[in-house]
Amino acid sequence: MKLCHLFLCALSQLALAAAQSTFTPARPPAIPLAVKAPYLSTWLNVGSDGGNGGYLAGEWPVFWSNQITAWTGMIRVDDTTYTWMGDPGPQAVTQTAFQYTSTKSIFTMDVAGKVEMNITFLSPITPNDLKRQSLVFSYLHVDVSSVDGKVHDVQLYSDITAEWISGDRSNIAQWDYGQAGDVAYHRVYRQTQQLFSEVDDQGEWGYWYWSTDQVHGLTYQAGPSTDARNTFAANGSLPNSQDTNYRAISDNWPVFAFAINLGPVDEWGSGVLFSIGLTQDEAVQYEGADGYDPVPSLWTSYFDSDLAAVEFFHKDYSTSSQLSTDLDNQISQDAIAAAGQDYLTIASLSVRQAFGATQLCGTPNTTYIFLKEISSDGNMNTVDVIFPAHPIFLYTNPTLLKLLLDPLYENQEAGKYPNLWAMHDLGSHYPNATGHPQGNDEEMPLEECGDMVIMTLAYALRSKDTAYLSQHYAKLEQWTSFLLDDSLYPANQISTDDFAGALANQTNLALKGMIAIKAMSVISSLTGNEADSKNYSSIAQQYINEWETLGVAHDANPPHSTLAYGSNSSYGLLYNLYADKELSLDFVPSWVYDMQSTFYPTVENKYGVPLDTRHTYTKADWQLFTAAVASKSTQQMFLKDLATWINETPTNRPLTDLYDTDTGNYPSGLTFVARPVMGGAFALLALPS
Ligand SMILES: *[C@@H]1O[C@H](CO)[C@@H](O)[C@H](O)[C@H]1NC(C)=O
Ligand SMILES: *[C@@H]1O[C@H](CO)[C@@H](O)[C@H](O)[C@H]1NC(C)=O
Ligand SMILES: *[C@@H]1O[C@H](CO)[C@@H](O)[C@H](O)[C@H]1NC(C)=O
Ligand SMILES: *[C@@H]1O[C@H](CO)[C@@H](O)[C@H](O)[C@H]1NC(C)=O
Ligand SMILES: *[C@@H]1O[C@H](CO)[C@@H](O)[C@H](O)[C@H]1NC(C)=O
Ligand SMILES: *[C@@H]1O[C@H](CO)[C@@H](O)[C@H](O)[C@H]1NC(C)=O
Ligand SMILES: *[C@@H]1O[C@H](CO)[C@@H](O)[C@H](O)[C@H]1NC(C)=O
Repeated sequence: MKLCHLFLCALSQLALAAAQSTFTPARPPAIPLAVKAPYLSTWLNVGSDGGNGGYLAGEWPVFWSNQITAWTGMIRVDDTTYTWMGDPGPQAVTQTAFQYTSTKSIFTMDVAGKVEMNITFLSPITPNDLKRQSLVFSYLHVDVSSVDGKVHDVQLYSDITAEWISGDRSNIAQWDYGQAGDVAYHRVYRQTQQLFSEVDDQGEWGYWYWSTDQVHGLTYQAGPSTDARNTFAANGSLPNSQDTNYRAISDNWPVFAFAINLGPVDEWGSGVLFSIGLTQDEAVQYEGADGYDPVPSLWTSYFDSDLAAVEFFHKDYSTSSQLSTDLDNQISQDAIAAAGQDYLTIASLSVRQAFGATQLCGTPNTTYIFLKEISSDGNMNTVDVIFPAHPIFLYTNPTLLKLLLDPLYENQEAGKYPNLWAMHDLGSHYPNATGHPQGNDEEMPLEECGDMVIMTLAYALRSKDTAYLSQHYAKLEQWTSFLLDDSLYPANQISTDDFAGALANQTNLALKGMIAIKAMSVISSLTGNEADSKNYSSIAQQYINEWETLGVAHDANPPHSTLAYGSNSSYGLLYNLYADKELSLDFVPSWVYDMQSTFYPTVENKYGVPLDTRHTYTKADWQLFTAAVASKSTQQMFLKDLATWINETPTNRPLTDLYDTDTGNYPSGLTFVARPVMGGAFALLALPS
């Protein structure tokens, strides 16, 4: 059936083509907008399961857990108003391009062929500058210039709602407006502060600051969304007024709006900077050596007040943006050199997500990093979540890995955990690091003991910090004694892939234990415990010799490691091999690497290799660990499949690490999103050169 004349069809297709944006280097399942810490995590949903395909205009930004955190952008060009962000009503600008780097999401918009806009969301990441990294803030920078040779009259608008301040829209918001130096800000917060509490994973305490430069031509309004937006659309300015009827977030939706009159805009253009962020003097509660105490946000050591931090951050744009660009370039060069564009596509998308699950706390002398196990259960500093994430910290600044491990050591060395094995996490829900004094945490003994030993040595080798090994030697020995008991024939237990169920004699888990024993022999040697070192080394050698028979289906064609001993038709990603190379142990024989590299391509599905024979789903992080130590061609297979998946997955939430290798969708009932484990994308770059 033909619904239109051929000529008109051709025309509408042209229009359609013109309305399409390019996506470079890929069209991700969700686009990070302001992603800096567990409570500053706003994204644009993209994938076809509910996203609009990656267009900034026409869809509201959301917090990672999917409730709207409305953020609006409008532009008025020669008296006509357009929408560039969110869905406030006016016609949308035409998005022509989108690009992401490790720290930035950049949209290019065409406004009626008259002006072009570049809209940059920058969540700065400064792994070697903890003062800057400690600030829970993000930038929005908008450039506008004329593209038709004429001068245009332009006004720019942006607002946020109070949805940013609480997960419960019936909570009462309060606000005020002011100036810090020459930075104008709206401050918005919960009238009743609920320290250390969350609703739907949003933080229920602290102060939100939404700022811009106090320039000539700036107007503002705090008031009902329809008032502020209609006033701007009609007039291009706001009345500099404040509604003081503090009320529920959803009651006549108060918005916090800025309008900037750019006046005549020519080809040289004009720019506006906004920043958004959260200040919480006290960030977490923590059961350390001295008891259960609130821990301050690290930035409080560097700034006397919220406003000092707000002003510093806003005025720091050029430095902060340069440091972020340096990191973008470093990652880009290293990733391309190591494995090509597909690798960069994956790695650069993972950076803000991994760092965005962490928060720097304490003081410069006693600094901690607390990490939230986002979306799976909210646990704090989960050992088997730090482990898959740890390559990004090792690559960017190994000290960050130490700061993640320190509170786990401190709590357990103070005798606050009763089990022989290593604790699973530091507390059941962020931001409460209460520990597990009864020892009733999620039991994952072999996994967590292996992870702690491996990561501790990885940090010490990269930082040449053998004192750290001596400091924790007793704990490491205790955990290793558990590894000696359990690694050869692992008891029936869950591994980090707990969603797949418990199993005895897991081949990959056994390998982790054995590699960790070998790692302990290195730790012993580095700390002058030569007798221990010899003993651990010889036991590890006996174990791996047995494993080579127990864990390998030698008669299979091609041969491969099994999922569990003796189950010859089973297989799984042997991702724990990674630590052997990471720590330069030279422990697992090279034929095991070669065998696995030959095997994986024989079980490749459309979007990758299944995690194991129990399901068709896989883990992106473990594929990246596996790829890092595979042959070049098998490595390229993994990276190509994963980059293709990023471009095509129907999932529309922040990058999942768990997806079906045939459909590219979530496995039923398992929606993991925005998890820091994607820091594992840096596995290849974290290997010793
Ligand atoms: C947008 O960025 C592109 C690429 O950097 C540049 O060529 C263009 O001039 C920019 N446009 C505006 C409005 O800043
Ligand atoms: C953390 O503990 C406090 C009590 O100290 C409690 O009010 C709060 O709800 C807890 N937060 C979470 C997210 O469980
Ligand atoms: C637009 O501005 C004029 C003059 O400042 C004012 O009288 C009018 O009420 C404004 N219109 C709206 C819709 O706010
Ligand atoms: C922090 O460490 C420095 C250098 O080790 C020391 O001089 C200073 O007194 C310490 N500050 C506090 C508050 O402990
Ligand atoms: C583990 O494997 C060994 C050797 O095949 C076997 O003797 C033992 O029964 C297995 N353990 C379990 C719990 O199945
Ligand atoms: C080696 O370690 C095992 C297990 O801890 C222990 O039983 C044995 O005595 C040790 N041997 C030596 C020579 O230290
Ligand atoms: C598994 O394969 C090994 C050799 O690869 C063989 O010795 C063993 O008997 C096989 N086990 C089963 C249950 O078939």
